[in-house]
Amino acid sequence: SLNNYLFKYKGYVFAKGETTGEYIDSLQHFEIRDSDVFLVTYPKSGTIWTQNIINLICEDTTDKSKFPNNLEKMPWLEYREGRPDYSLRASPRLFATHLTPTLMPPGLRDKRGKLSIKIVYVLRNPKDNAVSYYHFSLVWAKLEKPKSFEDFLQQYLAGNVGGSSWFDHVQEWYTKRDQYSILFLSYEDMVMDLRTAVEKICKFLEKNLDDAAIAHIVEKATFKNMKKDPRANYEFIPGDLLLKPQFMRKGTVGDWKNTFTVAQNEMFDQIFKERMKNIPLHFIWD
Ligand code: PPS
Repeated sequence: SLNNYLFKYKGYVFAKGETTGEYIDSLQHFEIRDSDVFLVTYPKSGTIWTQNIINLICEDTTDKSKFPNNLEKMPWLEYREGRPDYSLRASPRLFATHLTPTLMPPGLRDKRGKLSIKIVYVLRNPKDNAVSYYHFSLVWAKLEKPKSFEDFLQQYLAGNVGGSSWFDHVQEWYTKRDQYSILFLSYEDMVMDLRTAVEKICKFLEKNLDDAAIAHIVEKATFKNMKKDPRANYEFIPGDLLLKPQFMRKGTVGDWKNTFTVAQNEMFDQIFKERMKNIPLHFIWD
């Protein structure tokens, strides 16, 4: 069952204080523009990394000072707090979200029958995802502190964490992919070859950047450089919320091997096999 820090609305688990059911419902009337860009992820899958890349790709050199950091430039669609009036924003507007297709604004899907609104979906192998989420739970004030990784893993597998079940999230987006204009990217591919990932996003967003501009974005999006970039590293989040500044924690593939026991790994593989049997997605685990 859900701990006291969480609540469920329309089958989806949110952290308390982030939003309300009423606000989520209001998104059904959210006014979409053709030029909007949405970044969709399950939590801890590479959101703020891809957020930085998309922001850099879409950067208007004239408005650099307008947004103090990446969060302001690409806000979370579903969080109510401090929500500016998005209708006053210049295009292209950028949004990040952890929501599932059913909770998203309907206009994203069927604007005048065209698939014009662009969605970038980033997914990460769920073992590393779970480990990253576990560490995040320890430093994010508004989440219950797991007693152990085992304790967290049980909740994660049951979908009793913010974002609900990783399996449901990936499955829902993947099986509804034909209804959207959507680019699937994997965290692991980004780690292996960041330049190719940046080029793919540029192509998808129809941004023609020259070699030097792409090289600049790749350089700014490395783990090392993002970690010290105050616009990108999320250390601007106040200390009462972020108990320790580690949004940029490790940034690697295969960290699960340092955490999972043999038994946890076997159990996980079993569940993965069962839950993903109809989803032909390929994952890189190390
Ligand atoms: S959140 O809270 O949902 O927005 O978290 P999210 O940004 O999706 O995921 C956090 C993990 O992404 C890693 N990260 C990066 N990895 C590689 N390169 C870059 N540039 C980068 N930026 C963020 C971050 O370190 C978290 O993963 P872990 O495994 O915990 O280090």
